[in-house]
Amino acid sequence: MALSRADARSLDAQDPLAPFRSRFIEQPDDVIAYLDGNSLGRPLKAIDQTWNTLATQVWSQRLIRGWTDDADGGNWLELPEIVGDELAAAALGAAAGQTVIADSTTVNFYKAMRAAVNLRPGRKKIIVDRENFPTNRYIAESVASDLGLELVWLRPDLATGVSADDVAAVLDDDVAVVTLSHIAYRSGFLADMSAITALAHRHGALVVWDLCHSVGSFPITLDADDVDFAVGCTYKFVGAGPGAPAFSYVNRRHHADLNQPIWGWLGRADSFEMEQGYRPAAGIRSMISGTPQIPGILAVREGARVIGEAGIDTIRAKAVRLGEMVISLVDEWLGPQGYRLGSPRDSDQRGAHVSILRHDARQLNDALIGAGVIGDFRAPDAIRLGLSPLANSYEEVWSALEVIRDLDRAEYPGQDRPAEYFDRAE
Ligand SMILES: Cc1ncc(COP(=O)(O)O)c(C=O)c1O
Repeated sequence: MALSRADARSLDAQDPLAPFRSRFIEQPDDVIAYLDGNSLGRPLKAIDQTWNTLATQVWSQRLIRGWTDDADGGNWLELPEIVGDELAAAALGAAAGQTVIADSTTVNFYKAMRAAVNLRPGRKKIIVDRENFPTNRYIAESVASDLGLELVWLRPDLATGVSADDVAAVLDDDVAVVTLSHIAYRSGFLADMSAITALAHRHGALVVWDLCHSVGSFPITLDADDVDFAVGCTYKFVGAGPGAPAFSYVNRRHHADLNQPIWGWLGRADSFEMEQGYRPAAGIRSMISGTPQIPGILAVREGARVIGEAGIDTIRAKAVRLGEMVISLVDEWLGPQGYRLGSPRDSDQRGAHVSILRHDARQLNDALIGAGVIGDFRAPDAIRLGLSPLANSYEEVWSALEVIRDLDRAEYPGQDRPAEYFDRAE
């Protein structure tokens, strides 16, 4: 029997994260359920206050001195590393001194890929998968084309992802870099970071992980897994806002030989000496290129603070329970309507979103948004239901599934069901 609304309410009543919902600015009345926090998280009230303080008390009062002032709210030049460490402690399982907040994921990924390849001179291959996020595929193509390297493409199942065995099958001692997403953007498949990293290292290759979908939703253990490079965004489960700067992690053991390709003035040693010639700053600072985006970094700080307070293990536990609830409702309600599960059924292999597949997903998703349920469409046939443990209640997610179920009983724009569908419906 399908879970009832009363069941969902009782899960909310026992939820240790329930109080965190009031930390967010209320969502508009026309939204029944916001299930797109895996694309853009909802704003925290604390970010509103932080940005107001920045404008009215720090920027307006300290002016240019804010860059170097030690006064509360200033010291902007150091914030990429300071807040990088805060995020690392709350969500990345990384010790201080290995993470900066800077640029976009795309740019950080480019820098990390080039830096990783530079650390493995003479090796000619990069392993990447066809289901990776487009930016990762394109950057891998660009790096390979610039440096004359060969791309080894993995072709995982659309609804799952890359396993350690898939990687083992193509690894050899000519591979410079293996790059994968920790959680696949379409299916939510959770890759085995520890096993794949160890496997790559056994062949002398380095790993570059994309953590966009796992940072803030899953307990990441970069240091314990001996990861080489990792990048990720902060506008999904960290909730730092549209276009917020990304993070870049480089394992300390690579710092002495680190050589990333965008040699900007703020990644140089003694930036303000304005000297001729580039000499990298010591440590993780050399992953920076230009001026830090301060409002975004301050928002990352608020996101990291809330994750730290809630505890990443507690967040993960709720993501698993929400996912199980969604899958049980998909089985009960949506399977008979022609939907298929597009995510791993096993919670140990699934991140914090569940994809449902149907041939008319694009139109369905438009109709859903019109009906107050915001998820997102991913070509060719997936609707992703993002589950944000800090912002979503069980009842909100339950209501979303109810709307999806009932939508199918109504007409919606662009509706073109296959004939066999009608045999299966009610
Ligand atoms: C898995 C993944 N990697 C990379 C990116 C690209 O990030 P950006 O556009 O911030 O560079 C995204 C964006 O959503 C993503 O989901």
